[in-house]
Amino acid sequence: MIKTKKLVMIPGPTPVVRSIQDQMARETVAFGDAAFVRDFSEVLADLKEMWHCQGEVFVVAGSGTMGMEMAIANTTKRGDNVLVCSNGFFGDRFIDMCTRKGLNTDVLSAKWGTSVTPEEVEKKLAEKKYDVVTVTHVETSTGAAAPIAAIGEVMKKHPEIIYIVDGVAASGGVDENMEAMGIDVILTCTQKAFGVAPGLTMVWASPKAMKKRKSLGTIPESYIDFDKWLPVMHDPSKYWGTPAINLVWALKEAIRIMKEEGLEERYDRHIRQAAMVDSAMEALGFVVGAEKKYRAPTLSVYLYPEGSGIDDAKFRSILAEEGAQTAGCLGTFAGKGFRMGHMGNIDKHTLVSAIGAVERACVKSGYAVELGKALGVLQKGLVNE
Ligand SMILES: Cc1ncc(COP(=O)(O)O)c(C=O)c1O
Repeated sequence: MIKTKKLVMIPGPTPVVRSIQDQMARETVAFGDAAFVRDFSEVLADLKEMWHCQGEVFVVAGSGTMGMEMAIANTTKRGDNVLVCSNGFFGDRFIDMCTRKGLNTDVLSAKWGTSVTPEEVEKKLAEKKYDVVTVTHVETSTGAAAPIAAIGEVMKKHPEIIYIVDGVAASGGVDENMEAMGIDVILTCTQKAFGVAPGLTMVWASPKAMKKRKSLGTIPESYIDFDKWLPVMHDPSKYWGTPAINLVWALKEAIRIMKEEGLEERYDRHIRQAAMVDSAMEALGFVVGAEKKYRAPTLSVYLYPEGSGIDDAKFRSILAEEGAQTAGCLGTFAGKGFRMGHMGNIDKHTLVSAIGAVERACVKSGYAVELGKALGVLQKGLVNE
């Protein structure tokens, strides 16, 4: 048998389509090249418009974690009070980041597979004066989505607080509207629902967030300082740090694909796609890790069926050989299941292949499922697409 192609079904990086790969393979030009400057400006204008941002957008080389740090660095000063709403591993990442910066950090934690609620946030904000609230839109360790719009309604009653949303595993796959949802900073990166290789972080900042940045004066950070990048974002022929030229082109192509599909349709497709994949996996006896009302449209935790005798590491290695790379679980779910992305520019072929690989991996792991059972469920959904 010839070697099976491995699909990247981890929750990011996600599969990169040919037209985006082609942009990354282009001959690199000077960052001052007039055509590149135009391309970069268009990317920035599109991102601002698509996320309903009245302030500024920053596109900087770095991973999602840098975006988190950029959001915190530009909106807080030592001694500020921060409320971290954490639904798992990546929500918790803000705790260490904020503590290191000398921020007074309180945490609202949700049971794994669920989310912090607007009511809990409201209660906490009534008890103490906070400067910043962070929420992780889709928690990648659990596959749970936070109700960012409903939390935004609470935040609107506290206009003095900066509302930060980590959109790493959501942006481009789940609805985010800064204006309507009252969000001050959204951060994300290229390798998830945008379907580009890793390497760029995108940070949107509302006028209120920019005002807060101004009030801070000189901040200790340099590379991630909004002030340093702002002249470049207004005129990309200017220099602060060398832009990742080929990734900016790749991002431009990703945005073109998004606009062609239409953002609303893209968000709807992710919801439909997630429901289909979840149902297919349930048909094999797997249990979705997130509670139904919190299930994210972009990725899922699939817990092994009780009594299946599946060995986690062995199963995922067989699954990779069968053609689908998936990720192990973290924290509470560690060893009990795997995480699979179903976001970005994935098509019917990819979904069918991934679920087919899961079925074969089950059988090869000694969990005797009926081949075609999950595929049948998936196909019934896909035929209506
Ligand atoms: C929700 C969330 N936030 C932050 C990060 C960190 O992003 P990166 O690994 O690109 O630094 C991740 C990574 O998966 C994530 O899922």
